[in-house]
Amino acid sequence: MNKIHLHDKTFKSFIPEERIEKAIDDVAAKINADYEGTGIVPVLLCVLNGSILFTGELMKRLTFDVDLMSIKLSSYQGTSSTGTVHMDSGLTGDVTGKEVIVVEDIVDTGRTIDALVKILYASKASKVKVCTMLLKPDMYNKALQLDYVAMEIPNDFIVGFGLDYDGLGRNYRDIYVLDTE
Ligand code: IMP
Ligand code: MG
Repeated sequence: MNKIHLHDKTFKSFIPEERIEKAIDDVAAKINADYEGTGIVPVLLCVLNGSILFTGELMKRLTFDVDLMSIKLSSYQGTSSTGTVHMDSGLTGDVTGKEVIVVEDIVDTGRTIDALVKILYASKASKVKVCTMLLKPDMYNKALQLDYVAMEIPNDFIVGFGLDYDGLGRNYRDIYVLDTE
């Protein structure tokens, strides 16, 4: 599909599924290299709802044991960040003394990930690493290190592969960008 319509907006093709999957292969290989043989069983933390697809695709490529948990956060309304991070529902498990790999769909300003890492250390995680499918490097303004980044994109609003515009668009296999024409 070349263009999709969600609510009042039109989006055009941006990153095809094959490129997304290749990027996930590459990031999974890096994580495998860091964890294989260490005996560490990290918590893989899916940040709902956006990273459902990414977490599934990433997880099936991991070749060491992981403990899957999730948390639900939100900060976006329409096509822009509200500036405050809301915890819609808490951690589904106990991270005390555990190493956590946060799996995010996208890091934009970094507000969400920064708040989440603080929540995890406050919940007594021993170590927190971040894996994000997408990063908007021009928008990111936090000191926090992003350990694994699958793809970098310009500062445009996108949907698909888990990402939504006001609730719609998450089910598309490709990533689409807002069509401003
Ligand atoms: P941040 O807190 O500014 O880094 O924004 C991160 C969160 O905003 C992500 O977890 C997404 O839920 C959402 N978000 C940021 N950029 C986009 C986008 O281009 N499309 C859809 N959601 C986005
Ligand atoms: Mg998200």
